[in-house]
Amino acid sequence: MQDPFTGRPTRLEGRRLPDAAGRNGLQDDHRRRLEALARLSEIAAECGVAADPDRDLVTLPEDELSLLELGDPLWAAFGRAIRAWRSEVPLMRLEDFGFPEGADNPLEEANPRMQRIGGGVEAWAFASEDSGAVYKFYLPIEGEAKRVGSAFAFGPGDETQLNAAARPGEYRELLLKLWLIDALEGMPTEVIAVTPEGVLVAKQALGQVLPQGDDMSSRLPDGLIEIPSRFLRADRDHPRLFFLDGSPHLVADLHARNFVRAEDGRLRVIDLVAAPWPADRTGGDASIRTWMERVRMDPRAPALPESPDSEL
Ligand SMILES: Nc1ncnc2c1ncn2[C@@H]1O[C@H](COP(=O)(O)OP(=O)(O)OP(=O)(O)O)[C@@H](O)[C@H]1O
Ligand SMILES: [Mg+2]
Repeated sequence: MQDPFTGRPTRLEGRRLPDAAGRNGLQDDHRRRLEALARLSEIAAECGVAADPDRDLVTLPEDELSLLELGDPLWAAFGRAIRAWRSEVPLMRLEDFGFPEGADNPLEEANPRMQRIGGGVEAWAFASEDSGAVYKFYLPIEGEAKRVGSAFAFGPGDETQLNAAARPGEYRELLLKLWLIDALEGMPTEVIAVTPEGVLVAKQALGQVLPQGDDMSSRLPDGLIEIPSRFLRADRDHPRLFFLDGSPHLVADLHARNFVRAEDGRLRVIDLVAAPWPADRTGGDASIRTWMERVRMDPRAPALPESPDSEL
């Protein structure tokens, strides 16, 4: 299948959920994308090019270094890393998605090919008649032009070992969030482009919005592990631990507006706030370490062997 906007292969159309092979393919795509960006950041740093935050790297054109590449193998490798990243996430213009050229905020203007269905804080969500799917445009954060989306920052807590506070994210953190949505069997999601202004474009299967304020606590996705409250406090709903490819992550913000009902009737997540678990901050704490090892072996294991519920 071809996406009507990018002309590239896509696994998503309308409300349809991909089969198991398709879902695995989506996750492989997320993994490869993050690896390509990690490689690009690494080699940019070796070349002395600032790679932190990663904003300026994600929009580098394929031919950015053409002259420099001729003289130096390191710069040639940098050029290859840019092209590898570009083949994962192409540069496209907002006009390619039907938005008018030259407007102050093109996303606010009428678009004959897409209709606004929601969002505004992190992403503007549109439904396309051509493909039937949802297209999300993650804008750089106002006043923090090099950041998009959100992720957790960690610090010591007052009454808990860790405090997690949401803050504007980097591009790799947004890619990680979108991968986690698929890893949690949420609404199937693809990253399809980035614009020269740094707007990241993701495509998601269309679902049915839930009534606001629905209680999600007993309906969260499988694989999420409750975190004993004395370990962590977070400023987002339902903080949970999740192992992605074997590494622990904090996942939260799982309120009703971040779920939709999918074609198969299941509630599936469309948005969350996450971060890799800060092992450097908790490695010295024996109780967290022991807990982590227990739930890694068995995500359903109680927080403490002798008192399953009272400590939560
Ligand atoms: N896959 C989808 N199917 C149907 N509606 C969707 C889908 N994705 C997003 N929407 C609509 O767009 C809204 C915003 O989407 P999303 O949560 O991804 O962005 P956001 O910027 O975090 O927005 P918010 O701050 O409102 O949570 C959702 O609350 C929902 O109404
Ligand atoms: Mg949201």
